[in-house]
Amino acid sequence: MLDFGGQYVRNIERTLLEKGVSVEIVDYKVSTRLLLRRGVKGVILSGGPYSVYDKNPPTCDPQLFRLGIPILGLCYGHQLIAHLHGGLVKKGRRGEYGFSELSLDNRNPLFHGLSSKEICWMSHGDVVETPPKGFKVIASTPESEVAAYTLENRIYGLQFHPEVSHTPNGHVILENFAFKICECARFEWDIERFTFEAVEKVKKALGNARAVIAVSGGVDSSTAALLASKAIGRNLTAVHIDHGLMREGESVEVVSLLKKLGLNLVFVDASERFLSALEGVCESDKKRLIIGKLFIEEFEKVAREVGAEWLIQGTIAPDVIESTRGEARRTDRGHGGLIKIHHNVAGLPSGMKLKLMEPLSQLFKYQVRSLARKLGLPAHISERQPFPGPGLACRIAGPVTAEKVTLLRKVNVKVEEELERYKPSQYFAMLVNNLKARESKLSASIAEKHLETHVKAYVLQDESVGVKGDSRVLGRIITLEPEDCGSWSSTSWINILRMQNEVTGSIAEVCRVVASLAWRDGGKYGVIARAVDTLDYMTAIPTRVDFARLSRLGESLLNHHEELGFFGFEVTTKPAATIELI
Ligand code: XMP
Repeated sequence: MLDFGGQYVRNIERTLLEKGVSVEIVDYKVSTRLLLRRGVKGVILSGGPYSVYDKNPPTCDPQLFRLGIPILGLCYGHQLIAHLHGGLVKKGRRGEYGFSELSLDNRNPLFHGLSSKEICWMSHGDVVETPPKGFKVIASTPESEVAAYTLENRIYGLQFHPEVSHTPNGHVILENFAFKICECARFEWDIERFTFEAVEKVKKALGNARAVIAVSGGVDSSTAALLASKAIGRNLTAVHIDHGLMREGESVEVVSLLKKLGLNLVFVDASERFLSALEGVCESDKKRLIIGKLFIEEFEKVAREVGAEWLIQGTIAPDVIESTRGEARRTDRGHGGLIKIHHNVAGLPSGMKLKLMEPLSQLFKYQVRSLARKLGLPAHISERQPFPGPGLACRIAGPVTAEKVTLLRKVNVKVEEELERYKPSQYFAMLVNNLKARESKLSASIAEKHLETHVKAYVLQDESVGVKGDSRVLGRIITLEPEDCGSWSSTSWINILRMQNEVTGSIAEVCRVVASLAWRDGGKYGVIARAVDTLDYMTAIPTRVDFARLSRLGESLLNHHEELGFFGFEVTTKPAATIELI
């Protein structure tokens, strides 16, 4: 697979590996001679955050197309193949972020086993408007006439992402490509072998050295802690830092869990330090960097006390993917690719003295969960919903204050209680400032759209992080109120999803759409409930909830907390929004 810096490169790799296809990720500039020497059976050109009309867009060796081996281009790869063969690539009428409805020719071997209509996941602004001469269109969506093409069933391009779990049958396409078209042989991959190799790797690297492991209490860090203790036993010290941004009662629970697991434990209450360092900081990445730096300072203090030279972290694949730029993932582009600075990856300060070990950095969340089960962690940990390292700071818009943290903690308990019934992958409350504008250009352009429900659109002033076409965006949040104080009950769920697609796809500055469920005059803050269904947290779809029940919760929260002016449920897919607010 030639890596053009796309977010989902590792998803492609993982899907193929799990289906028994041997795959190697290489720089997009790889020479065709090297590919021939390695005896590759087929080549995938990944997506990437580029346009073929950028100045010096990344491109592959044109000889590649003359080797006679099968080639599959995905998203940017699809546009690049079309462009290099004389097709026309243009900016689409609007972006497509999230789900789309695909009509396809299932007689083509790439689509064997699929029905003629499938759901697919998109994240792109450009489209192939005219395919190159001789190329046959084999799938389309309402926004992308050329959603898939082929040249003689050997060269293929797909505008959508078969590798993400939200393209439900996408894995069938990748398997067809590997086994039917490239005729690859199948091999086995398993978690048993991973566990054995990971323990051996830690043992070998650390020898008799001591290490501290950062444990937040989530599945990743707890699993990494157990794995590392298998490797180095009592030379490992688990450190839990309360940064004042944990949920209600969480640190107490974590400490008791770590004791039960029999780990050496150091608990640090650094809440005042973190909160005062965050005072007045609005910018999302600045908050993440401050938290990352303070974490390391605290770990270094403990490491000095216990004589440790290593820091072990429970970093997993999406943390690395989202917080590194394309070039760090083997391409040499200087822009794009970075979605957010995860505190444990890009947030690490450059002068860090501890040596770093991340035994889970190749795994996706569901793989970590099976590893956790295998290592015997209790179900409430192995199945626990993720909570980000920077904690509630990821869910508070604008400056983080003690007042906001206390309010969000209380509200979050109620929101989690209500959303739990739907068994979402992740669910929580976020706190935003109740600063809404109605007459702005953005509200007006939404009013012009022919949405099924007549809505009043408000634009929140807060900054929020989104992801569109493999690139990070800092975007605005739109809240929608049904006209005439009506309710959402007459709007079908699929139409609500289409509405968010339409709004985030056609208005570049918008990355989040919230259905307002309760509101009143006044109140400094607003609460946004979020619940998403996802397998690997790289793509996500809002969980289908009962708006009538949630509205009642919203009203009760507004009655109990005079600081609150509105309550809503976020209906944006990832892309265009990330799961967390910042
Ligand atoms: P986003 O917001 O990027 O989140 O769609 C994807 C998943 O990652 C979690 N997340 C983090 N986890 N440190 C973490 O340990 C972080 O800085 C961080 N930021 C996001 C998020 O909760 C979701 O599960």
